[in-house]
Amino acid sequence: MADLRTTCFGLDLKNPVIAGASRLTANMETLKGLEASGVGAVVIASLFEEQIRLGHDRLEDLLMGFDSREQPEISIFPGMAYAGPEEHLEWVSKAKRSLEIPVVASLNAVTAETWAEWARKLAQTGVDALELNFYATPVDPDKKGSDIEDEHVNAVVRVCKVVTVPVAVKLSPFYANPLHVMKRMAEAGACGFVLFNRFFQPDIDAETEKPRFVFDLSEAEENRLPLRFTALASGRVKGDLVASTAVLTAADIAKMILAGAKAVQMVTAFYRHGLDYAGTVLSDFSSWMDRHGHRTIEDFRGRLDKRHAEDPHAWERAQYVRILMRSDASVGRYPLL
Ligand SMILES: Cc1cc2nc3c(=O)[nH]c(=O)nc-3n(C[C@H](O)[C@H](O)[C@H](O)COP(=O)(O)O)c2cc1C
Repeated sequence: MADLRTTCFGLDLKNPVIAGASRLTANMETLKGLEASGVGAVVIASLFEEQIRLGHDRLEDLLMGFDSREQPEISIFPGMAYAGPEEHLEWVSKAKRSLEIPVVASLNAVTAETWAEWARKLAQTGVDALELNFYATPVDPDKKGSDIEDEHVNAVVRVCKVVTVPVAVKLSPFYANPLHVMKRMAEAGACGFVLFNRFFQPDIDAETEKPRFVFDLSEAEENRLPLRFTALASGRVKGDLVASTAVLTAADIAKMILAGAKAVQMVTAFYRHGLDYAGTVLSDFSSWMDRHGHRTIEDFRGRLDKRHAEDPHAWERAQYVRILMRSDASVGRYPLL
């Protein structure tokens, strides 16, 4: 029988499935349901800089106004409650006390001061690790990419100086070189990376000629980006790798670990299939390991990363050129002539 245990961010996990931050991890009932279903750890929904700056009432007004405009898409959020920052800390501490599995707190701040101050406060709740959630879209054409990177690395430096718990970083894929950013953050003290954050993209309704906020869950193909960067970073950048975005099936978990991940985060899968899905996917994953003769996760982790892949170009540009030059494949109705 396969041994599903893994270590990640300095924590011992009974299996590699982590419930990622979402509204499902902002509610005690759903958190308990995820634990009962067998997940290895949970990441509590992020504390956002807006919660800290605006305070409870103003944030509630802002978001309720938004919700009433966007009701159909947003109804996926269970028992939405917009806590102020102090309430959030209490809630995280309660979640930690109520669960047996490791609990990770998440912070999404903007200024270096807020990152450091609230990381320290979150760490004091007794959580097992922190996840820094870098989620921001650059909107200023005068701001250089290197300045944005410096700011993000500086935030990690500041946080790692004030907390003793392990600090992981959930990264955006939109850096010129995510591997270099990871290297710098690891040097600053980050113990690992969640690849990647998923940005919700606004849309335009062509009929009403108005912008609309589309709240959609991940689709299967989206896991190729985290898969590729996990394989590129594995063994070449210090720190544990956790693959996230469209990890939906046991085969997806297997792929991510073959690429070098120590664990995966899942969110969409639980929204689609319910909290019990962890039990199903873990049992399928265990059967996959048995079928493939893998006794432990380390038996096959990283076997297909960039260092070990039989085809060293598999994760690089050559593969892209090869696909485009092939004449035997087709897209839709047309062969790739
Ligand atoms: C309703 C909802 C709320 C989310 N809230 C957070 C959050 O508070 N912090 C965070 O880092 N990510 C948040 N996410 C993003 C998820 O953690 C995850 O990165 C994303 O959904 C991609 O993973 P998936 O394909 O398994 O869904 C949220 C996602 C959803 C669907």
